[in-house]
Amino acid sequence: MATIIDGKALAAKIRSQAKREAEELRAEGVVPGLAVVLVGNDPASRTYVRAKHRDCEECGIPSFDYTLSEQTTQEELLSLLSELNGRSDVAGILVQMPLPDHLDAEAVIAAIDPAKDVDGFHPMNLGKLVRGLPGLRPCTPAGVMRMLEEYGIDPAGKNAVVVGRSSIVGKPMSLMLLAANATVTVAHSGTADVAAACRAADILVVATGRAKMVTADWVKPGAVVIDVGMDRDESGKLCGDVDYAEVEKIAGAITPVPGGVGPMTRAMLMENVVAAARGIEQGC
Ligand code: GUN
Repeated sequence: MATIIDGKALAAKIRSQAKREAEELRAEGVVPGLAVVLVGNDPASRTYVRAKHRDCEECGIPSFDYTLSEQTTQEELLSLLSELNGRSDVAGILVQMPLPDHLDAEAVIAAIDPAKDVDGFHPMNLGKLVRGLPGLRPCTPAGVMRMLEEYGIDPAGKNAVVVGRSSIVGKPMSLMLLAANATVTVAHSGTADVAAACRAADILVVATGRAKMVTADWVKPGAVVIDVGMDRDESGKLCGDVDYAEVEKIAGAITPVPGGVGPMTRAMLMENVVAAARGIEQGC
Protein backbone atom coordinates (compact mmCIF):
# COMPACT_ATOMS: atom_id res chain seq x y z
CA MET A 1 0.00 0.00 0.00
CA ALA A 2 1.41 3.30 -1.08
CA THR A 3 1.74 6.39 1.09
CA ILE A 4 -0.93 8.80 -0.15
CA ILE A 5 0.63 12.24 -0.59
CA ASP A 6 -2.07 14.57 0.70
CA GLY A 7 -1.73 17.73 -1.40
CA LYS A 8 -4.97 19.13 -0.07
CA ALA A 9 -3.82 19.10 3.57
CA LEU A 10 -0.36 20.41 2.75
CA ALA A 11 -1.83 23.19 0.59
CA ALA A 12 -4.04 24.28 3.50
CA LYS A 13 -0.94 24.54 5.68
CA ILE A 14 0.86 26.63 3.03
CA ARG A 15 -2.16 28.95 2.66
CA SER A 16 -2.33 29.54 6.40
CA GLN A 17 1.39 30.43 6.41
CA ALA A 18 0.80 32.78 3.45
CA LYS A 19 -2.07 34.35 5.37
CA ARG A 20 0.18 35.05 8.38
CA GLU A 21 2.83 36.56 6.11
CA ALA A 22 0.27 38.68 4.25
CA GLU A 23 -0.88 40.07 7.62
CA GLU A 24 2.70 40.96 8.54
CA LEU A 25 3.15 42.72 5.20
CA ARG A 26 -0.03 44.72 5.60
CA ALA A 27 1.13 45.73 9.11
CA GLU A 28 4.32 47.04 7.47
CA GLY A 29 2.24 49.03 4.97
CA VAL A 30 2.97 46.70 2.03
CA VAL A 31 -0.06 45.61 -0.04
CA PRO A 32 0.45 42.01 -1.24
CA GLY A 33 -2.04 42.40 -4.10
CA LEU A 34 -2.54 40.00 -7.01
CA ALA A 35 -3.87 41.12 -10.39
CA VAL A 36 -5.50 38.30 -12.36
CA VAL A 37 -5.98 38.95 -16.06
CA LEU A 38 -8.36 36.76 -18.06
CA VAL A 39 -9.01 37.36 -21.74
CA GLY A 40 -12.16 35.76 -23.19
CA ASN A 41 -14.73 33.29 -21.91
CA ASP A 42 -13.03 29.92 -21.76
CA PRO A 43 -15.09 28.07 -19.10
CA ALA A 44 -12.13 26.14 -17.62
CA SER A 45 -10.07 29.34 -17.36
CA ARG A 46 -12.97 31.13 -15.67
CA THR A 47 -13.18 28.34 -13.09
CA TYR A 48 -9.42 28.49 -12.40
CA VAL A 49 -9.51 32.28 -12.07
CA ARG A 50 -12.45 32.15 -9.65
CA ALA A 51 -10.54 29.65 -7.52
CA LYS A 52 -7.49 31.96 -7.45
CA HIS A 53 -9.62 34.89 -6.25
CA ARG A 54 -11.10 32.63 -3.55
CA ASP A 55 -7.63 31.58 -2.38
CA CYS A 56 -6.59 35.25 -2.23
CA GLU A 57 -9.63 36.07 -0.10
CA GLU A 58 -8.79 33.26 2.32
CA CYS A 59 -5.18 34.45 2.60
CA GLY A 60 -5.96 38.15 3.04
CA ILE A 61 -4.36 38.93 -0.31
CA PRO A 62 -6.27 41.68 -2.17
CA SER A 63 -7.07 40.42 -5.67
CA PHE A 64 -7.88 42.56 -8.67
CA ASP A 65 -9.98 41.02 -11.40
CA TYR A 66 -9.36 42.04 -15.02
CA THR A 67 -11.73 40.00 -17.13
CA LEU A 68 -11.34 41.31 -20.67
CA SER A 69 -13.34 40.66 -23.80
CA GLU A 70 -12.28 38.04 -26.33
CA GLN A 71 -11.63 40.91 -28.78
CA THR A 72 -9.00 42.60 -26.60
CA THR A 73 -6.04 43.67 -28.77
CA GLN A 74 -2.39 43.01 -28.07
CA GLU A 75 -1.87 46.77 -27.56
CA GLU A 76 -4.69 46.97 -25.01
CA LEU A 77 -3.35 44.00 -23.07
CA LEU A 78 0.24 45.30 -23.10
CA SER A 79 -0.99 48.70 -21.96
CA LEU A 80 -2.85 47.12 -19.02
CA LEU A 81 0.27 45.16 -18.05
CA SER A 82 2.35 48.32 -18.18
CA GLU A 83 -0.13 50.00 -15.81
CA LEU A 84 -0.10 46.98 -13.43
CA ASN A 85 3.72 46.85 -13.51
CA GLY A 86 3.72 50.39 -12.15
CA ARG A 87 1.15 49.95 -9.37
CA SER A 88 2.46 49.71 -5.82
CA ASP A 89 -0.63 47.80 -4.61
CA VAL A 90 -0.05 45.06 -7.20
CA ALA A 91 2.74 42.74 -6.05
CA GLY A 92 1.90 39.92 -8.45
CA ILE A 93 0.48 39.72 -11.97
CA LEU A 94 -0.99 36.58 -13.51
CA VAL A 95 -2.29 36.35 -17.07
CA GLN A 96 -4.41 33.23 -17.37
CA MET A 97 -3.35 30.93 -20.22
CA PRO A 98 -4.22 30.01 -22.88
CA LEU A 99 -4.80 33.36 -24.55
CA PRO A 100 -6.99 33.70 -27.65
CA ASP A 101 -5.09 32.87 -30.86
CA HIS A 102 -4.82 36.46 -32.09
CA LEU A 103 -2.69 37.41 -29.06
CA ASP A 104 1.05 36.76 -28.82
CA ALA A 105 1.45 34.92 -25.51
CA GLU A 106 5.26 35.12 -25.54
CA ALA A 107 5.18 38.91 -25.89
CA VAL A 108 2.54 39.13 -23.15
CA ILE A 109 4.59 37.04 -20.70
CA ALA A 110 7.71 39.07 -21.50
CA ALA A 111 5.80 42.31 -20.77
CA ILE A 112 5.21 41.37 -17.12
CA ASP A 113 7.74 42.83 -14.67
CA PRO A 114 9.84 39.73 -13.74
CA ALA A 115 9.62 40.81 -10.07
CA LYS A 116 5.79 40.52 -10.31
CA ASP A 117 5.75 37.36 -12.43
CA VAL A 118 4.11 35.07 -9.86
CA ASP A 119 3.61 32.36 -12.50
CA GLY A 120 7.39 32.19 -13.00
CA PHE A 121 6.88 32.08 -16.78
CA HIS A 122 8.98 35.15 -17.72
CA PRO A 123 12.22 34.30 -19.58
CA MET A 124 14.17 36.10 -16.83
CA ASN A 125 12.73 33.81 -14.14
CA LEU A 126 13.10 30.68 -16.27
CA GLY A 127 16.67 31.76 -17.01
CA LYS A 128 17.34 32.14 -13.29
CA LEU A 129 15.99 28.63 -12.78
CA VAL A 130 18.35 27.30 -15.46
CA ARG A 131 21.28 29.10 -13.83
CA GLY A 132 20.37 27.98 -10.30
CA LEU A 133 19.70 31.54 -9.12
CA PRO A 134 16.86 32.58 -6.80
CA GLY A 135 13.76 33.75 -8.67
CA LEU A 136 10.00 33.27 -8.86
CA ARG A 137 9.38 29.61 -9.71
CA PRO A 138 6.46 28.14 -11.73
CA CYS A 139 3.80 27.04 -9.25
CA THR A 140 3.11 23.45 -10.33
CA PRO A 141 6.69 22.13 -10.27
CA ALA A 142 7.40 24.20 -7.13
CA GLY A 143 4.40 22.49 -5.51
CA VAL A 144 5.71 19.06 -6.50
CA MET A 145 9.11 19.84 -4.97
CA ARG A 146 7.40 20.97 -1.76
CA MET A 147 5.39 17.75 -1.57
CA LEU A 148 8.56 15.66 -1.96
CA GLU A 149 10.27 17.70 0.75
CA GLU A 150 7.34 17.46 3.19
CA TYR A 151 7.18 13.70 2.74
CA GLY A 152 10.93 13.28 3.29
CA ILE A 153 11.60 12.20 -0.29
CA ASP A 154 15.07 13.44 -1.27
CA PRO A 155 15.61 13.36 -5.05
CA ALA A 156 19.42 13.31 -4.66
CA GLY A 157 20.90 10.27 -6.39
CA LYS A 158 17.48 9.04 -7.56
CA ASN A 159 16.36 8.45 -11.13
CA ALA A 160 13.65 11.02 -11.74
CA VAL A 161 11.58 10.71 -14.90
CA VAL A 162 9.35 13.55 -16.05
CA VAL A 163 6.77 12.68 -18.70
CA GLY A 164 5.84 15.81 -20.65
CA ARG A 165 7.96 18.76 -21.78
CA SER A 166 5.71 21.81 -21.46
CA SER A 167 7.17 25.17 -20.47
CA ILE A 168 4.70 25.36 -17.57
CA VAL A 169 5.41 21.95 -16.02
CA GLY A 170 7.75 19.45 -17.70
CA LYS A 171 10.76 21.65 -18.46
CA PRO A 172 10.88 23.58 -15.15
CA MET A 173 10.11 20.35 -13.25
CA SER A 174 13.13 18.63 -14.80
CA LEU A 175 15.36 21.60 -13.89
CA MET A 176 14.15 21.64 -10.28
CA LEU A 177 14.75 17.91 -9.89
CA LEU A 178 18.20 18.38 -11.43
CA ALA A 179 18.91 21.20 -8.97
CA ALA A 180 17.98 18.72 -6.22
CA ASN A 181 20.65 16.34 -7.57
CA ALA A 182 18.37 13.76 -9.21
CA THR A 183 19.42 12.04 -12.43
CA VAL A 184 16.70 13.36 -14.71
CA THR A 185 15.11 11.92 -17.85
CA VAL A 186 12.44 13.83 -19.76
CA ALA A 187 10.14 11.56 -21.77
CA HIS A 188 7.72 13.05 -24.30
CA SER A 189 5.61 12.32 -27.37
CA GLY A 190 8.76 11.71 -29.42
CA THR A 191 10.25 9.18 -26.96
CA ALA A 192 10.61 5.72 -28.52
CA ASP A 193 9.56 3.74 -25.44
CA VAL A 194 7.92 5.90 -22.78
CA ALA A 195 6.91 2.85 -20.70
CA ALA A 196 10.52 1.65 -20.48
CA ALA A 197 11.65 5.14 -19.45
CA CYS A 198 9.00 5.21 -16.73
CA ARG A 199 9.99 1.80 -15.40
CA ALA A 200 13.47 3.17 -14.61
CA ALA A 201 12.02 5.90 -12.39
CA ASP A 202 12.45 6.11 -8.62
CA ILE A 203 10.46 9.35 -8.87
CA LEU A 204 7.95 9.57 -11.72
CA VAL A 205 6.24 12.87 -12.53
CA VAL A 206 3.53 12.64 -15.17
CA ALA A 207 2.23 15.74 -16.95
CA THR A 208 0.78 14.67 -20.28
CA GLY A 209 -2.93 15.49 -20.07
CA ARG A 210 -3.79 11.92 -21.13
CA ALA A 211 -6.25 10.20 -18.80
CA LYS A 212 -4.83 7.13 -17.01
CA MET A 213 -1.95 6.84 -19.48
CA VAL A 214 0.47 5.43 -16.90
CA THR A 215 -0.54 1.90 -15.94
CA ALA A 216 0.88 -0.33 -13.18
CA ASP A 217 3.24 -2.18 -15.57
CA TRP A 218 4.99 1.17 -16.29
CA VAL A 219 5.91 1.70 -12.64
CA LYS A 220 8.82 0.29 -10.66
CA PRO A 221 7.54 -1.22 -7.38
CA GLY A 222 8.10 1.28 -4.57
CA ALA A 223 8.45 4.30 -6.87
CA VAL A 224 7.14 7.75 -5.94
CA VAL A 225 4.43 8.69 -8.47
CA ILE A 226 3.36 12.32 -8.90
CA ASP A 227 0.33 12.89 -11.12
CA VAL A 228 -0.01 16.40 -12.56
CA GLY A 229 -2.98 15.45 -14.79
CA MET A 230 -6.50 16.83 -14.51
CA ASP A 231 -8.45 14.72 -16.99
CA ARG A 232 -11.84 13.05 -17.41
CA ASP A 233 -12.24 9.30 -17.74
CA GLU A 234 -14.70 7.45 -20.05
CA SER A 235 -17.56 8.18 -17.66
CA GLY A 236 -16.68 11.88 -17.34
CA LYS A 237 -15.22 11.51 -13.84
CA LEU A 238 -12.20 13.61 -12.87
CA CYS A 239 -8.99 11.58 -13.01
CA GLY A 240 -5.27 12.02 -13.58
CA ASP A 241 -2.65 10.87 -16.09
CA VAL A 242 -2.00 7.83 -13.86
CA ASP A 243 -4.27 4.81 -13.43
CA TYR A 244 -4.50 5.47 -9.69
CA ALA A 245 -6.44 2.37 -8.60
CA GLU A 246 -3.84 0.03 -10.10
CA VAL A 247 -0.65 2.04 -9.57
CA GLU A 248 -1.49 2.74 -5.92
CA LYS A 249 -1.07 -1.01 -5.25
CA ILE A 250 2.62 -1.03 -6.20
CA ALA A 251 3.89 2.55 -5.76
CA GLY A 252 5.79 3.57 -2.62
CA ALA A 253 3.97 6.91 -2.58
CA ILE A 254 1.42 8.50 -4.89
CA THR A 255 -0.57 11.72 -5.32
CA PRO A 256 -4.35 11.41 -5.79
CA VAL A 257 -6.42 13.35 -8.34
CA PRO A 258 -8.17 15.41 -7.12
CA GLY A 259 -6.42 16.37 -3.89
CA GLY A 260 -2.79 16.07 -4.97
CA VAL A 261 -0.88 18.46 -7.22
CA GLY A 262 -3.85 20.73 -8.04
CA PRO A 263 -4.30 22.32 -4.59
CA MET A 264 -0.51 22.62 -4.26
CA THR A 265 -0.25 24.64 -7.48
CA ARG A 266 -2.80 27.12 -6.13
CA ALA A 267 -1.10 27.30 -2.73
CA MET A 268 2.30 27.98 -4.28
CA LEU A 269 0.76 30.91 -6.15
CA MET A 270 -0.18 32.44 -2.79
CA GLU A 271 3.38 31.83 -1.56
CA ASN A 272 4.77 33.48 -4.71
CA VAL A 273 2.55 36.55 -4.24
CA VAL A 274 3.81 37.00 -0.67
CA ALA A 275 7.41 36.49 -1.84
CA ALA A 276 6.94 39.03 -4.65
CA ALA A 277 5.43 41.53 -2.19
CA ARG A 278 8.41 41.10 0.11
CA GLY A 279 10.72 41.50 -2.85
CA ILE A 280 12.50 38.31 -1.96
CA GLU A 281 13.28 35.65 -4.45
CA GLN A 282 12.98 31.97 -3.73
CA GLY A 283 15.40 29.28 -4.75
CA CYS A 284 15.14 25.53 -5.09
N1 GUN B 1 -3.21 27.85 -17.48
C1 GUN B 1 -3.02 26.59 -17.03
N2 GUN B 1 -2.17 26.58 -15.98
C2 GUN B 1 -1.84 27.86 -15.76
C3 GUN B 1 -0.99 28.48 -14.80
O1 GUN B 1 -0.35 27.86 -13.94
N3 GUN B 1 -0.91 29.84 -14.89
C4 GUN B 1 -1.56 30.54 -15.84
N4 GUN B 1 -1.38 31.87 -15.87
N5 GUN B 1 -2.34 30.00 -16.75
C5 GUN B 1 -2.48 28.66 -16.70
